[in-house]
Amino acid sequence: MPEPALLDTRRRPLRDLRISITDRCNFRCTYCMPAEVFGESYQFLPKAQMLTFEEIARLTRIMVRLGALKVRLTGGEPLVRQNLDELVRQLAAIEGAHDLALTTNGVLLPRYAQALKEAGLARVTISLDSLDNTVFRQMNGGKANVSEVIAGIQAAEAAGLTPIKINCVVQRGVNDHTLVDLARWCKDRGYIVRFIEYMDVGTRNGWRMDHVVPAKEIAARIHAALPLEKVARNYDSETALRFRYSDGGGEIGIIASVTLPFCGDCSRLRLSTDGHIYTCLFAVEGTDLKTPLRGGASDDEIAAIIRGTWEHRADRYSELRSAEGSHSRKIEMYYIGG
Ligand code: GTP
Ligand code: 5AD
Ligand code: SF4
Ligand code: SF4
Repeated sequence: MPEPALLDTRRRPLRDLRISITDRCNFRCTYCMPAEVFGESYQFLPKAQMLTFEEIARLTRIMVRLGALKVRLTGGEPLVRQNLDELVRQLAAIEGAHDLALTTNGVLLPRYAQALKEAGLARVTISLDSLDNTVFRQMNGGKANVSEVIAGIQAAEAAGLTPIKINCVVQRGVNDHTLVDLARWCKDRGYIVRFIEYMDVGTRNGWRMDHVVPAKEIAARIHAALPLEKVARNYDSETALRFRYSDGGGEIGIIASVTLPFCGDCSRLRLSTDGHIYTCLFAVEGTDLKTPLRGGASDDEIAAIIRGTWEHRADRYSELRSAEGSHSRKIEMYYIGG
């Protein structure tokens, strides 16, 4: 029997599940896990607190029953968790879960892309903030070179993890002079680059509005070099505004969470590494599913908790931010899963 439609207080359905596989990462991007905060002695989650693959798969099955269609694996860096292909295999076998995708910084893809594809992963989105190696290293905390990410992108393409999307977080005065180069490089190779407005996620990245390059300006800068036309979103809750190149050579996206918020159609639920669900990227508090899960709750009992959480959901942080300015509350992104 299909479940009755699950809607939140703003009549938004639950459609997308974003799962954070680990809170660890082999990069130290200044906008996400700055090295001065996340140093050698930083305490990440102990293994016992992390959901096992079986637990993640069970919760995913329940959420798919409740309406989730898309499943995305994030982190931290998901590929630093061992045997991730085993989890992918379990998730790919869930009937009703489509478009199983992974967001990664790419450097471990040469090692894992083929196994992930064989396990049932559909596609990957790879973060690459600039093709200029000096700029890139400055943004990732000096942890990797552009050439390593390119090797990862090529491995994903060779394994058929397509269409390949490239995520670029845009920061004024840091990498915004390199956007056209990245757009051209992606266009020539058939990758979909998405420029992301720098967001005030977490509390540790020192975000300021004057570091944000608004979507309109990003579009104008690319358009001046490579003419663009606007196209409709693929589906209501898509994060990116879409543009195609006027010469027919592919498309780009701009994720304008700051200047053009998309909360109105947001259908995303986030599952953290330690088994809490969050109804917004900027949430302060989550709902604990790990305790009932490990305490012997049935699928129906867990489904009832998720239902209750979703039915009370009223989040629209990005809309409020643009109305009232940034707040100081909220959780770190590497923990909740970007
Ligand atoms: P597709 O399925 O390929 O469209 O991917 P996606 O854009 O949903 O996911 P991805 O992991 O590539 O995230 C791209 C950017 O959008 C990241 O910076 C995310 O943090 C941001 N993002 C994703 N979902 C949300 C959301 O619900 N709210 C906000 N504000 N940002 C989001
Ligand atoms: N603002 C915008 N995007 C961010 N990401 C991480 N931190 C931020 C931020 N402060 C991006 C990563 C990755 C995606 C999951 O989120 O670069 O591409
Ligand atoms: Fe790691 Fe991604 Fe955060 Fe960079 S943005 S530190 S790659 S989780
Ligand atoms: Fe959804 Fe919160 Fe992002 Fe708005 S800010 S789109 S409600 S996750």
